[in-house]
Amino acid sequence: MTSLSAPVPPVPADVPPGSVAWLRASVARFSNGPDHVRRRALAVSLLASVGELRDEAFARTQGIVAALGEFDVMAVVARPVPVGVLASALDLPDVSADVALVAAAYHPHVTPDSAAEAAVGRLIAACGGADEHAAARIGLLVQACDATAGLIGNELSAWLSGKPVGQPVLSTRRRVDGDDVSVSLAGTPFGAGPRACPGARHATALATGVLQALQGFRLTEVKTSWVPAPNLRMPARLWVTRGRAAGGLC
Ligand code: HEM
Repeated sequence: MTSLSAPVPPVPADVPPGSVAWLRASVARFSNGPDHVRRRALAVSLLASVGELRDEAFARTQGIVAALGEFDVMAVVARPVPVGVLASALDLPDVSADVALVAAAYHPHVTPDSAAEAAVGRLIAACGGADEHAAARIGLLVQACDATAGLIGNELSAWLSGKPVGQPVLSTRRRVDGDDVSVSLAGTPFGAGPRACPGARHATALATGVLQALQGFRLTEVKTSWVPAPNLRMPARLWVTRGRAAGGLC
């Protein structure tokens, strides 16, 4: 099995400052060697300063769903709430809409569109300018976005359908003998080795708070639609409403 400690495929370093490519070139996630060690330490120290997240995730979710009848958990709660709560803990306003745009363009195989480039520009401005510290804060929010939504969506979908819980991130990429290869993350929901997720505790707290506020809801569509990305396993939409189901769902 290919080791998760192999280097990640490198990304170009000579890129326009303040672009999505600049973000990739400046975060721990796509760095190797001393750059990875330094940037990861920065991310870890920012996360260490973050306090309790569960109660705020619970309160925000309750506040949002109180006025709603039937709604899509993924769009209304699972994507915006964790990022909004984490942003606030990192002394930023609620930048969750911009984070979602950048998250969709974050991985190197995607060509960022103009909406993602504009969003990264606003995030950098909110963080005070294009330096490694700003990249670390934006990187944490972007890493949290899809993965934590997946954690919430998968847990809720399993609760409500009685099916087993799937892990949201299925694989990652490494460079081995000059080739870029896919490496399975099966059995390691938060990765492993020197690049294992430093946000596992925060993600779990955020998901727990959100899920506690969604008790008493039921699915309104029996069939779940899943996101098409090959390395992610999470619902694309999850329509719910309050109360008990008449049939097999509870
Ligand atoms: C608060 C939420 C989260 C934050 C702040 C966060 C942050 C990060 C960061 C900064 C990295 C890069 C570490 C490095 O390259 O050294 C990372 C990697 C990773 N994260 Fe998270 N993450 C979060 C949620 C999640 C969730 C919910 C999952 C899945 C259940 C997840 C799975 C992973 C995995 C598998 C990796 C390693 C990728 C690899 O080895 O290529 N993360 N995370």
